[in-house]
Amino acid sequence: MIIAIDGPAASGKSTTAKKVAHQLSFIYLDTGAMYRAVTLAVLNAGIDPNVEGDVRGVLQNLKISVEESDGESKTFLNGNDVSEEIRRTEVTDHVSAVSALPSVREEMVTIQRRIADGKDAVVEGRDIGTVVFPEADFKFYISASYEVRGERRGLDLKKLGIELSKEELIKDLKRRDGIDSGRMHSPLTRADDAILVDTTDMTFEEQVAFIVEKVRNS
Ligand code: DC
Repeated sequence: MIIAIDGPAASGKSTTAKKVAHQLSFIYLDTGAMYRAVTLAVLNAGIDPNVEGDVRGVLQNLKISVEESDGESKTFLNGNDVSEEIRRTEVTDHVSAVSALPSVREEMVTIQRRIADGKDAVVEGRDIGTVVFPEADFKFYISASYEVRGERRGLDLKKLGIELSKEELIKDLKRRDGIDSGRMHSPLTRADDAILVDTTDMTFEEQVAFIVEKVRNS
């Protein structure tokens, strides 16, 4: 069974998807982490993230894998654990550009299907219910107000020792939403048959319970 969870950055999607997977004993696949790993490889290679031909060259020599250990999802780039590095601001700043490239998407979607196809999986991203698994058994689209998303992003970054004003955080979220929703290939959009979960006024526990109940009661 595939549960697709899509939505914009800092909507509460990742933490919710991870917990839902844990409660249902499903595997959890964070597809954003995969796009971040490609971005890290592009930056490490000193290549302009906007030049698709150059990025394609990097893709050819890339091995991205994900593993779960101790309830945590780990992302590996050519065998190295890059789970922390891919959360760096530099990666976040460029990931929307890299993930807009068709060749990058094609490659990542192939890997995502290979990992989750035929399994019980919670797959989280931007285009899971629309492109990667359009036949998913359940589709959820998670959203929240910019105010709340700014607060959540601020808390996440604080844990990494980065402090930005709420205005800066919201400006950056709007910038990324613009690229993710406006791109030609697989833009961030709610699938017609996805259940909308507006988490603005929901606690983390409520978000998880809402999704788990929908799945269990169907
Ligand atoms: O969920 P996240 O913020 O870690 O995702 C990082 C970026 O990856 C996000 O800006 C858009 C991109 N992404 C995507 O294009 N498609 C997905 N399925 C997942 C993420």
